[in-house]
Formats: sequence, C-alpha cells, structure tokens
Amino acid sequence: MSSNFSTTQSGAPVIDDANSSSLGRDGAIPLTDHYLIEKLAQFNRERVPERVVHAKGGGAFGTFEVTSDVSEYTKASLFQPGAVTETLLRFSSVAGEQGSPDTWRDPRGFALKFYTDEGNYDLVGNNTPVFFIRDGIKFPDFIHSQKRLPGTNLRDADMQWDFWTLSPESAHQVTWLMGDRGLPNSWRTMNGYGSHTFMWINEAGVKSWVKYHFKSNQGHEVLTGDQAEALAGSDADHHLRDLSENIAAGNFPSWDLKVQIMPYDDAKDYRFNPFDLTKVWPQGDYPLIPVGKLTLNRNPENYFAQIEQAAFAPSNFVPGIAASPDRMLQARIFSYADAHRYRVGTNHAQLPVNAPKNEVRNYSKDGAARYDFNSASTPVYAPNSVGGPAADPAQYGPHGGWENDGDLVRAAHSLHAEDDDFGQAGTLYREVFSDGERARFLDTITGAVGGVTIDAIRERAIQYWTNVDVELGAKLRAALGADASGGNTQAEAANKV
Ligand code: HEM
Repeated sequence: MSSNFSTTQSGAPVIDDANSSSLGRDGAIPLTDHYLIEKLAQFNRERVPERVVHAKGGGAFGTFEVTSDVSEYTKASLFQPGAVTETLLRFSSVAGEQGSPDTWRDPRGFALKFYTDEGNYDLVGNNTPVFFIRDGIKFPDFIHSQKRLPGTNLRDADMQWDFWTLSPESAHQVTWLMGDRGLPNSWRTMNGYGSHTFMWINEAGVKSWVKYHFKSNQGHEVLTGDQAEALAGSDADHHLRDLSENIAAGNFPSWDLKVQIMPYDDAKDYRFNPFDLTKVWPQGDYPLIPVGKLTLNRNPENYFAQIEQAAFAPSNFVPGIAASPDRMLQARIFSYADAHRYRVGTNHAQLPVNAPKNEVRNYSKDGAARYDFNSASTPVYAPNSVGGPAADPAQYGPHGGWENDGDLVRAAHSLHAEDDDFGQAGTLYREVFSDGERARFLDTITGAVGGVTIDAIRERAIQYWTNVDVELGAKLRAALGADASGGNTQAEAANKV
C-alpha cells in the first residue's frame, strides 16, 4: 500500500475518494458517509468574507534593508543601520470586489508588514500620498458612494460625484486619481506612501513627525484609459500575474524608502495643518531623506493562507514609532484589528502569516481557533505574584504622545494659515502634470462627469473642477456641452473610477 494514502481531517485512511456510500447502487446516501459530509461541509466554509474594501489584491514576501542612518530620528530597531527585516507586501485595488479587474481606475493599496524583532510593524499605505477625506467618520459614507446601489447593485456616477462634490476635501485625491497615475501598468511600477503623518521617537525621547515614500526602482509605467479597459476584459488579473511571474523569474522588484521629517515643534505653526491627510508636505520644506530598500523576492506558496488571511493593522506599532493627531489614522487604529476579528477570527494574529517572529507574552486566552497557549504554570491574570509577564517601561523606552488643546469638541482639525481644499489639487494639475497629462485628465473627467444624470450634481462637479483651476472648469463645461448626449453611459463612467 502506498504511504501517500488520503485521510479524513482527523487522519484516518479514506476508503474511497470517488464513490459515496449508498444503499444499493441507486439508493439513498446514509449519514454514516461522514467523509462525504466532511468534504461538503468543509467546502461550504472555504471562503472567509472578502475585505470590505481592498478585496482584490495580491502580494509577496521580501526584505527591508536599511542603507542610511536615521537613528537620530527613530529608535525603531527595523530602521537602525544595517538592519534587515523580513516583510510581506500586499497590493490591492479599493472599490472592486474579489475577481474585479486589476486595471479599473482606483487608488492601489500598498500594505506592508515588517516582522521586526520588537513585534510586527504594519504600514498600511496606498500608491497615493493623500486621501479623499480627512475624518474617519466619513469613511463608510465615502465607500458606500463608490461601491454599488442597493437596488440595482450597479456602480453609479451620480452618487460618486454627489459625495465628492459635497466633500471638497476630496479634490486633491480625485485629481490624483483621474491623472495618469490613476492607472498604473503594474504594481511593480508604482510608488507606495504611508500617506499619514506618523511620529518617530529617538533613543533620547526626541519626537519628530514623519511621512514615508517608497519610490519604485522599476520606474513608473501607466496605462491609457483604452489599454486599461481592454485589459479589464482580456486579463482581469493583469497586476497579479505581472507580480507573480516577475518574482518567479527572479526579477525582484524593489523600492527605495525615503522619509520626510518635520521637527516636532514645526507642526504648531506650519502654513497648513500637517496632520491633514488631504495634503502633501512640499519637498522644498521637508526634503526626502533616504532610509533603505525594500525588495520582494518570494511568492506566496498558498494565496489563501498567506495573502487572503493576511491582516495588516495601522495599530501595529513598534517602539520608536507612534500615532499622530491625524484623525484618519486614529479611526484606522480601531478599524483594522476589528475587521480582522470579524473577517479572519479573533485569533487571526496566531496564523503563521500574521504572527510576529518574536515571542508573544500576554494574558489573552481562548476564542475560536485558538492555536497557541500559555503553559499551565503561567497565571491567567495580572498583576500576579508568581512571575507571569509584566509590562516593563524600560523595554519600550521613550514613547509617543502629544499635548492637546483641552476641551472635548466635535470640530474639524485646526486650520492653519494656508489650509484650503483646492490649493494643492490646483498645483498638482498646473505644475506637476505635463501638457499631455492635462489633456488626458480633461478627457478622463469629461467621461466620468459625463456619466452623471442629475443636473445639479453635474453642475456642482463643474464648479468643483473650476475651484481646482478656473480654465479647467471652463474646458470641462465646454467638453460636456459638446458631448451633451454623452459618449459614456452612466455605467461606463461609474466603472472608470
Ligand atoms: C483595508 C478601513 C483609510 C489603505 C481596509 C479594511 C478596512 C479599512 C476595514 C479591510 C481590512 C481587512 O479586512 O483586512 C479604513 C478606514 C479608513 C481607511 C475606516 C479611514 C478612516 C485608508 C487609508 C489608506 C488605506 C487612508 C491608505 C493610506 C488600506 C489598504 C487596505 C485597507 C492598503 C488593504 C490592506 C490589505 O492589503 O489587507 N481599510 N480604511 N485605508 N485600507 Fe483602509
């Protein structure tokens, strides 16, 4: 008998892989065929819920190697000179469901897990340095407006533009999205950004504010609208395939990590609020400082176990790195670990892809699918007098925190001298885009706004782009007028974002 015989989940040899047991050849199947029942029941449970956003994606393992000395800014072990840290990077699109085409216009996720010797550090970023909103309380509404109508289950340009134009802080990110970089040709040929402002703390306890930039060493490659549409039909997995095939061929993609550092006290009176996620920090004010290099060199062996079940949480900090007053970041600090408890299970952190490489010591216990547990001699409570693990502030060292202005209020982030919604969007359009990109941008927004069927929303959209740039608004109005009957159906326009 072969030693490679199949077994039940509990390890007993299987009698027959192909035939259910039945009462006679054409008779009923009895409950005693527990192997059939086990197979069907297991199959029914093969899926976990897809991520509520960023459902379609792919990823790979790699290493992060420090190449410069930034120890004057952070004591985090992964950023100390010479450190090499194992990583996992998952790329994704945002609004589409699992199985949706990789090439729909959308921001792309750039979620990194660093398996450091002081615990996992997760930097859950995007390929854009800014975001659509600046307060997490709007996030569910924003996402609802980009997903599907409850009745028809169709995506809908009216609600997309209704939300955006009633949320003018979205202008910078929508400008970014409708530009050439809104359609990357591959995950390898795009940048990644931590987007938020985070805090770094050095060994002496000195705090700085930091923004992360991962610059692709493969350069930038983008798709035209037509190419993206064709690929959506011919190869919906274009980005996934590209990543997996390049890594399999030994063509390992890499990114250089650079950071912008803002001295702690600058934040108080910088010309705009540096914690506003709809803004970038001009590099003239805060230049890029090199840190290290991220290389992806290992495909997952099992997509479900290592990518679908991967759980990235902005709450996973390590000593030397902390949160900031950015209220989007603070909302996310709650949201992700909660999503993981629901999507993967309360013990998601014990799965090999999510578990830190260092030892976990605490008093959490039990829960569905518990795998790891403390020894019987470890007490189940703290404080205790029998030598169980106890917090040691000296191990953590200086940590984060900032002073605040007192009263509990419900109000927007404080406004600094140059805070507004449209300024940086206008700069991006006028000063960063080339002539060709500006022309393509007009085409793209004409198509997208052209799908709006409600006049008041369409008018608001024209005003929105006029606020970004007066000439752009006039051109859009003319283009929409010329194209009043619409070359785009509403569905085409909605799927383009
Ligand atoms: C995924 C919530 C803003 C990047 C997710 C998930 C949730 C979520 C619930 C699914 C997590 C999972 O099931 O594993 C939120 C909330 C936000 C917000 C409440 C605002 C308050 C952002 C921002 C960025 C971002 C600003 C980028 C800078 C990502 C990425 C993923 C993700 C990359 C996919 C992670 C992965 O690959 O597993 N978000 N999000 N999100 N989000 Fe956000």
